[in-house]
Amino acid sequence: MTSSFNEVLIAPSILAADFAQLGAQVKAAEEAGADWIHVDVMDGQFVPNITMGPLVVRALRDVTDLTLDVHLMIVQPENYVQAFADAGADLISVHLEASPHLHRTLQQIRDAGCKAGVAINPHTPARALQEIITMIDLVNVMTVNPGFGGQSFIMDTKSKIAQLRAMIGDVKADVHIEVDGGINAETASHAVQAGANVLVAGSAIFKHESGIAAGMDVLRGALAAELE
Ligand code: DX5
Ligand code: ZN
Repeated sequence: MTSSFNEVLIAPSILAADFAQLGAQVKAAEEAGADWIHVDVMDGQFVPNITMGPLVVRALRDVTDLTLDVHLMIVQPENYVQAFADAGADLISVHLEASPHLHRTLQQIRDAGCKAGVAINPHTPARALQEIITMIDLVNVMTVNPGFGGQSFIMDTKSKIAQLRAMIGDVKADVHIEVDGGINAETASHAVQAGANVLVAGSAIFKHESGIAAGMDVLRGALAAELE
């Protein structure tokens, strides 16, 4: 693996959790070794689905000290950055495609005391990040079209992950490359080989037939085999 970060982090996406037991499920993921908790915010505008807002982030803040990785799939994300920061987000990612003044929005995220990420849809090229790569802590490479959990990993995104890893190496920046969508034991290996170091996984963890800990173990097992 060519990541500048030494370990691969796993960020369970609560989109696939049982919302009637959200606190307990997040605790279970934490106890099973989750590194971050990924929170998918959708507005029914940028993506064709509506999920959750700052209230859920605030509730999660009371149950875990893990990094809350908030992925805003919303139009005009600048209008909500402060609300998510106040609710307890540690890292806020906005979509490049939803942000005409991305530089300003990233500055706003930092000023609010959070780490700043940019998410890119499958059609958006790596080079679109060239001018802001040194301003960000994370790039979220969408490996499905955003909007729903349980979709299949788009293999064509592997070359983009590799291009981004090279771009980050060229500027000697410490930028996480997160992959989001369709991650399971098999696709996790592809993503890590290409240069990703943060794996978002919803269905593979929260919908694993043997439970959350088993889902985490399967992913960790695949990564351990990869790093051998
Ligand atoms: C999709 C979301 C993903 C999603 C991943 O729009 O950004 O985080 O929850 O879910 P799985 O792992 O089920 O593909
Ligand atoms: Zn996400």
